Amino acid sequence: MSVKLNTKFASQFIKSHELDYIAPTAEAALAFVRAKCGQGSDFLGWVDLPVDYDKDEFSRIKAAAERIKGMCDVLVVIGIGGSYLGARAVIEYIKSNNYNAVKNGTPEIYFAGNSISASALSDLLRMCEGKDICVNVVSKSGTTTEPAIAFRVFRDVLIKKYGEEEAKKRIFATTDKARGTLKEFSDRMGYETFVVPDDIGGRYSVLTAVGLLPIAVAGIDIDALMAGAAAAREQYLFAPFSDNDAMRYAACRNILYRRGKTTEILVSYEPAAAMFAEWWKQLYGESEGKDGKGIYPSSVIFSTDLHSLGQFIQDGSRNLFETVVDIVNPKDSLKVPFDPEDTDGLNYIAGKELDEINHKAMLGTLLAHVDGGVPNLKLETPDRSEYETGYLIYFFELACAISGYMLGVNPFDQPGVESYKKNMFALLGKKGSEERGKELALRISKL
Ligand code: PA5
Repeated sequence: MSVKLNTKFASQFIKSHELDYIAPTAEAALAFVRAKCGQGSDFLGWVDLPVDYDKDEFSRIKAAAERIKGMCDVLVVIGIGGSYLGARAVIEYIKSNNYNAVKNGTPEIYFAGNSISASALSDLLRMCEGKDICVNVVSKSGTTTEPAIAFRVFRDVLIKKYGEEEAKKRIFATTDKARGTLKEFSDRMGYETFVVPDDIGGRYSVLTAVGLLPIAVAGIDIDALMAGAAAAREQYLFAPFSDNDAMRYAACRNILYRRGKTTEILVSYEPAAAMFAEWWKQLYGESEGKDGKGIYPSSVIFSTDLHSLGQFIQDGSRNLFETVVDIVNPKDSLKVPFDPEDTDGLNYIAGKELDEINHKAMLGTLLAHVDGGVPNLKLETPDRSEYETGYLIYFFELACAISGYMLGVNPFDQPGVESYKKNMFALLGKKGSEERGKELALRISKL
């Protein structure tokens, strides 16, 4: 078992009888997932994906990644939400949060279309000047405003730089299999296309072409990533509660939520995990935050954030619990140098591995936060290899589905995401929403 849930830092907040009582609910939730009979069951394609994926497309992804590596300095991945977070999370978690600075022989990879900021897009355009560019536009619907704007901008850049025909060879579209604006447009233009399966929502799509193409371009072994996810599926999809940490994690979250712990903070001591936490936040936030319910997902990187949010976590509102992702084996080794003058008083740790010090910081913080009334769950993962990353992804996906069903919500829809879009379209005067636009403008003027 690669991921291990350690509950000893939460034991004073979760009684063993509570776990016994909630176990049947967790078992029932997992049974819904397995039998594909709960709410949102049309979106359970991710459950068997690690063992049942389109092998031909997988080969095409690898081939396209090699072509992209050969023909560009920069890959611009255009997408928002589930259409970019997974790729960015995996690239930074496995390689580095400074991937573009430390990469070795692979293209720089930038993400666009995840905001409407003119400055962010202009910066990226400047960064691409004088470089060979490829674009991977990712949108299941093909109509999402943010990526559609960025795609227009980059299409223009590519056509001006390379001409129509060459630009077509540099654009790769990941979108709906058959329907949708982007699919239709891509086929007409002759772009190579990859599929976002109908039965997989954005936040569960990292192991489809959505994540895999950019991940493969970064030089990451996508076979090993899928193998790790397949191993986690084997481990967690069938095991009983007593032997199933995905179910137990979901159960602990729900017990803590019932005790008023309404915010979960995902903690890592590796800066490379910052985007992984963003992916996790979308997965849990969009899956559970509905019907007036849900745990608010938040994240920190320690020890960095111990010097900012540490005060609040130790001492502020007591509605928090933490889930610490403990990466057991570090990627690198670095020791504290000896200084004969010892002006900073650090010689007592001279010669020690930074990882050992980081580990002690983690243990000290765990104890302090438990003393401060913050339950801590600890998830131990062996390392940041492709295999273990795939394993961790599947663990979180399955635990999220189980937890959502235990909470009594549909973990696979996101009705709330539409509200801002309706207002934005109306305020921009989109055809068909002019009346609503006038109403909103009036409301704003009266505020
Ligand atoms: O998880 C989700 O469904 C969302 O975050 C979508 O991925 C996001 O809104 C982008 O949608 P699309 O891929 O249709 O452009």
